[in-house]
Amino acid sequence: MNDTPPAAGGSRHFLDLDLVDATELRRIIDRSGEIKAARAGRPKLMPDDDQPLANRMVALIFEKPSTRTRISFDVGIRQMGGATMVLSGSELQLGHGESVGDTARVLSRYVDAIMIRTFSPEVLAEMAEAATVPVINGLTDRTHPCQIMADVMTYEEKKGPIRGAHLVWSGDGNNVFASFAQGAAAFGYRLTFTGPETLDPDPQILAAARAQGAEIDIVRDAAEAVKGADCVITDTWLSMHDDATARDRRHNQLKPYQVTSGLMHEAGEDAIFMHCLPAHREEEVTSEVFDGPQSVVFDEAENRLHVQKGILRWCMGVL
Ligand code: CP
Ligand code: NVA
Repeated sequence: MNDTPPAAGGSRHFLDLDLVDATELRRIIDRSGEIKAARAGRPKLMPDDDQPLANRMVALIFEKPSTRTRISFDVGIRQMGGATMVLSGSELQLGHGESVGDTARVLSRYVDAIMIRTFSPEVLAEMAEAATVPVINGLTDRTHPCQIMADVMTYEEKKGPIRGAHLVWSGDGNNVFASFAQGAAAFGYRLTFTGPETLDPDPQILAAARAQGAEIDIVRDAAEAVKGADCVITDTWLSMHDDATARDRRHNQLKPYQVTSGLMHEAGEDAIFMHCLPAHREEEVTSEVFDGPQSVVFDEAENRLHVQKGILRWCMGVL
């Protein structure tokens, strides 16, 4: 595994899980747990004891909607003493023809880090290539690495070390699944995908993950796939980048992969249920599971805040 090439000043980009060394990912998770513990019981916006982002400005760029990513980055940066600027792609010249590279060069003269949620993974890559400050991937059509960092942290809080655990993804082989695949070798969990063949994960991502040592398999029958799983995961059946006119077709194909109490029963009572949110009740998951005792979905959402503080510190060289 290659370490992410450093941006100027020894700082680093956080673009995808397969680009960061496994020991660094582990260090971020462990440190994020300490960061979370140090704040236990404090009001939300009370500053952290150390202020690693004091006098620093972070640009948060969104070309797609967001609740968790937007707010957790904003709150986390303020807790660390930094300031934020939340921008939509359309209000930048980026949306009106200025190149991504030139935008990155200009932003690098003003701000200390950039977090971007965009459609195309090429835009993210171009931004990182030209920026001289750290760039963080806040989701593309292809991957969502910050989410999986929060999910690993959540898994370990609930069930102990994730190494050797069996995680089963039921549904669409989308961007969130792709980051689970990219993190499998580094964190050492076994990953099963269960879903219709038409919505299989990107074969290039699977091949690259397996080449790094990830153990990933595909099982078509959902009940068989989840047997004895430590964690069952799903996500929306229609992602932000998907064609909305395909909704009914996708729903028909994905219905056998809905996470129901029957499916969780196959996994066993010790299995936990994860969802990155936003969720669509009675579509990819029933309310009974979503609100039930095995669900850890709001802990995942909270841990976005803590783990992204760890990621930012790592990017800025102050982990
Ligand atoms: N899980 C997640 O990234 O949520 P948002 O789209 O609300 O940021
Ligand atoms: N797969 C979803 C994740 C949202 C956080 C999407 O891309 O819309």
